Amino acid sequence: MIEKRFDIPFLANLALREKQIQQNYRPVIAVHKWFARRPGTLFRGLLLSEYGSGELQDSFYQANALNGITVADPFMGGGTPIIEANRLGCDVIGCDINPMSYWIVERELASLNMEEYQSVSDSFLTELKKKIESFYMTTCTICGNEAPVKYFLWVKTQACKVCGESFDLFPGYLIAANNRHPSYVLVCSQCGQLNEVDDQSEAGDCAQCHEPLKVQGPAKGNKCACSHCGSNNQYPQPSQGPPKHRMVAIEYYCPHCKPNHQGRFFKKPDVTDQLRYEQAAAIFLKTKNSYIPDDIIPPGDETTRLHRWGYNRYGELFNHRQLLGLVLSCDLITSLPDDEVKNALATNLSDLLRYQNMLCRYDTRALKSLDIFSIHGFPVGLMQCESNLLGIADEKRGVNVGSGGWTNIIDKYRRAKDYCQHPFEIYHAKGKKIRVPIPGEWIGPGKDNRDQQRDRTIQLHCGSSTELSLPPNSLDAVFTDPPYFGNVQYAELMDFCYVWLRQLMGIDIPGFQRPTTRDIDELTGNTTMDRGAEHFLCGMSKVFCNMAQALKPGSPLVFTYHHNDIGAYYPIAAAILDAGLVCTASIPCPGEMGGSIHINGTGSSITDTVFVCRSTGVVSRRTIVDSAEAIAELVLQDLKSLKAGGVKYSQGDIRCITYGHLIRLSIWLLRSEWNANWDAMTKIDRIAAQARRLGEWATIKDYVLSVAAVPEKQSWITLEPELTYEGECHEIAF
Ligand SMILES: C[S@@+](CC[C@H](N)C(=O)[O-])C[C@H]1O[C@@H](n2cnc3c(N)ncnc32)[C@H](O)[C@@H]1O
Ligand SMILES: [Zn+2]
Ligand SMILES: [Zn+2]
Ligand SMILES: [Zn+2]
Repeated sequence: MIEKRFDIPFLANLALREKQIQQNYRPVIAVHKWFARRPGTLFRGLLLSEYGSGELQDSFYQANALNGITVADPFMGGGTPIIEANRLGCDVIGCDINPMSYWIVERELASLNMEEYQSVSDSFLTELKKKIESFYMTTCTICGNEAPVKYFLWVKTQACKVCGESFDLFPGYLIAANNRHPSYVLVCSQCGQLNEVDDQSEAGDCAQCHEPLKVQGPAKGNKCACSHCGSNNQYPQPSQGPPKHRMVAIEYYCPHCKPNHQGRFFKKPDVTDQLRYEQAAAIFLKTKNSYIPDDIIPPGDETTRLHRWGYNRYGELFNHRQLLGLVLSCDLITSLPDDEVKNALATNLSDLLRYQNMLCRYDTRALKSLDIFSIHGFPVGLMQCESNLLGIADEKRGVNVGSGGWTNIIDKYRRAKDYCQHPFEIYHAKGKKIRVPIPGEWIGPGKDNRDQQRDRTIQLHCGSSTELSLPPNSLDAVFTDPPYFGNVQYAELMDFCYVWLRQLMGIDIPGFQRPTTRDIDELTGNTTMDRGAEHFLCGMSKVFCNMAQALKPGSPLVFTYHHNDIGAYYPIAAAILDAGLVCTASIPCPGEMGGSIHINGTGSSITDTVFVCRSTGVVSRRTIVDSAEAIAELVLQDLKSLKAGGVKYSQGDIRCITYGHLIRLSIWLLRSEWNANWDAMTKIDRIAAQARRLGEWATIKDYVLSVAAVPEKQSWITLEPELTYEGECHEIAF
């Protein structure tokens, strides 16, 4: 049972490491982007704690065959829980309202002939190269040879409201910092020359025009002075249409000079570079472009920002060179026979889009492209980064140079699918990472030469899980990662890929009849669609009720959750109570990446609570407490376990762990009086009142911090020892 066998330090450590470099631990995620994927190691750990035999730390690194166990995930998203369950030999049932999720999970689980994929993608690249490679070349400023471009950097421009001239909206002139390059690279504000300087605070004068170099640009706080007449202009100006851009820098890769060159290669675009772009644009304008989605971008919590910038159609988010490459790619994919290789390349195209649009930014420290989804929104910057669409494969070294091109995407996909056939785990011993192959496991329906083993079944549904009706007593477990209220607007974001994939693959794909992935029944808080806590509560309640009635009595419904606002937990608690379940454990585990752009530097939590719920069973008496101090002690024990797993937590994490306990205990205390027929507001009020009675966050926090703030004094062992009930049963039946 999870409640007894789950090993927090062991799994927190793995989950933490996985979230730092998820592709190293779960390469399957590279099939296609999905948002906020939880760690696969966590779900493997949970499944094995419930069903595995022997020590968890042993079974984790061994092949398991949990045949005959049926696991469902009503919010499958990128597929993490069902992929882990499938790999362990379970029969799986997955459902998601978003057709992109359905498509992606299908690809993750599909059998793919790797040789065929390799050979078709090779010919695909060769064909595409013939058509567009010249548009991604530049002249090396050192040796004069032709060299491939890694990134073109563009600045937004605007027409001055006074003089009508076009001026640049430079927020700053720094192109590259000196982390990955020996010097800082600054664009000259006067002549556009790129200058390499040792110290950006004393940058000196431009080597070309001798004007002083600047770091700060004129664009700030939505205002920018026109460089021609000095008039102050507001930006953005949606009435001017989608933003225009000017190419200001190129990062390229000269294989000829590389052996004797320190750092990266930067240059100011020359006349030929401009010409190459114009040629690509001219060809694009003559090319049939029936693959470009003409869809209007609907307003939304995230998409309205695009309207403010004058973008009205998805097709406007790309420049003409990008569109040329994308349209030609679509053409080549369309000509392939309908099979899994074609599906794979179509998925690749969809994933490539996130690097091939004019919302990508250049990371001036890491010197790489940040894709459109590097945060869960559509942030529009003033400087944009266009990656080489083909990608640059350095065949000698067997690596890709740069990111965001076809070679990168194909490589990732190949590795993802190879991992499905040959999964592994990573074992840490004495500071070393050891890759442990798990030869008896695989991801997918079946595997060659395994006819003695019964194939596990895979059932995927595309639709709302509020409508998912499964036979009673048919499920052994539900493992899921539900939407965290309004954290991520899955449909608004995924539409960006969906409109292209739908255009390419047609409307006969399940779920692709709909023009958008948005759905009134999507369970996220969304202001534009007027979906608040009540909608979330009713929907979650229906889904949990559907799952509970299909679960065998006492089987677990397990899900991860975290939010900075306790109010976002009330609907979840109500859903659990409506479904007649009790929360038997709330377990902390890292679920987000501390260094990720949307978490870093914020008070947000990286720690999820894993809620384990059952209709009948026992709970540990030790975890049933009713005072703020006792809850604080449970939190401190959790912190101790996390620390043992190497997790560095913040106050945000402590808050989420606390909320986990408050919600678990509120459910416990409310279960006997609960009435599923109460209206949503009554349910929320009852839970809120119960949680408040147990203890306010401020009180619990003070208590926790008074102890945890002095860890060098071994604070944890100075606490009261764990509550024990000598001679009493340590469990309470329900
Ligand atoms: C957090 S994501 C799941 C992430 C996934 N477990 C993973 O690790 O990749 C939540 C998912 O719930 C889906 N969803 C939202 N409302 C739904 C509904 N009514 N029925 C089914 N799925 C829904 C969203 O489309 C989203 O994919
Ligand atoms: Zn060179
Ligand atoms: Zn200059
Ligand atoms: Zn002007």
